Amino acid sequence: MSRQPKLGGKDSGAGQEQSEEARLVSSLRPRAFDEYVGQGEVVENLRISVAAARQRRECVDHILFHGPPGLGKTTLAHIIAREMEAKITHASGPALEKPADIVGILSNLEAGEVLFIDEIHRLSHSVEEYLYRAMEDFEVDFVLGKGAFARTLPYQLKPFTLIGATTRAGLLSAPLRDRFGILQHLDYYSEEDLARVVRRSASILDLVVEEDGAQEIARRSRGTPRIANRLLRRVRDYAQVKGDGQINVALAREALSREGVDESGLDRLDRLYLTTILVNYGGGPVGVEALAATLNEETDTLVDVVEPFLLKIGFVTRTPAGRRIGEAGRKHLGAPQRGQGKLPIE
Ligand SMILES: Nc1ncnc2c1ncn2[C@@H]1O[C@H](COP(=O)(O)OP(=O)(O)O)[C@@H](O)[C@H]1O
Ligand SMILES: [Mg+2]
Repeated sequence: MSRQPKLGGKDSGAGQEQSEEARLVSSLRPRAFDEYVGQGEVVENLRISVAAARQRRECVDHILFHGPPGLGKTTLAHIIAREMEAKITHASGPALEKPADIVGILSNLEAGEVLFIDEIHRLSHSVEEYLYRAMEDFEVDFVLGKGAFARTLPYQLKPFTLIGATTRAGLLSAPLRDRFGILQHLDYYSEEDLARVVRRSASILDLVVEEDGAQEIARRSRGTPRIANRLLRRVRDYAQVKGDGQINVALAREALSREGVDESGLDRLDRLYLTTILVNYGGGPVGVEALAATLNEETDTLVDVVEPFLLKIGFVTRTPAGRRIGEAGRKHLGAPQRGQGKLPIE
């Protein structure tokens, strides 16, 4: 107990640091289509939908964004609301447990408002059913009374735009997916686009980044703007303490290797995942549940976060029998012989 004041002091320091980090993250988020880097086709489609809706003085059709985490789904939802001069309300699939939760939110929406539901594939079935009517007819049923005396009372909602985001469109029920007028997939960013993200963020943060330094960070960002911004902040710290504040390629390499991010942008878990397939399962095929158990990780983390990028760059392949390590993946690890050798890391 006597140590508490000291601990308290330390904690509040860490708290301040965290809010500083949060402030940074929010300052880097694009606020308009013009600031949004890459995803050219998606952005062009959305611009047209927004412009058309504005001309007709209507809401934009319901939109579903799917793609891996950190690619800009939430950012796009905010940009659309801003371009429509509309309010935006946030909700998250797993947090909406009962029909009353969704009915409460829907009946409070203003005309034209955007309702953003993140992780929409994790909505419960009963909540989904309410959403169908709301999306299609802008109506919900209030249930009055209980049991044999229960009556439903239709309630007219104001027109709104639902924007759903999901890392796994495949888990969305067909009736829900069909009610979105606009479906847009976000794919991983090219190195060139990520270098633009890094340069944009650097200029907001007032950092000097040499061109090849920006490219090095981009190359190691796993095709993901959120990661590019995070790596830039880590390199910035390193440059400030170990260098003269300038970010060049040598400094970026050194800083990122220290972070455990290798030349292909893989982090510790990515490498452990590959190594496990190679060494523990003789290169595969192995089911994702078995991998998750061996790695002591959630299956969802592997499926949503780790695998999509490794599949994209050909480091793993997915077969009906399970996951296999790809040729490029073997090469990356320095490929010990099939079923032999120690883990190349740790
Ligand atoms: N197209 C983009 N241009 C610039 N920065 C982006 C872009 N997309 C995402 N970002 C950055 O990456 C971060 C993560 O984006 P976010 O929209 O939260 O991803 P998601 O919702 O898909 O997980 C944002 O805060 C933003 O700074
Ligand atoms: Mg998001």
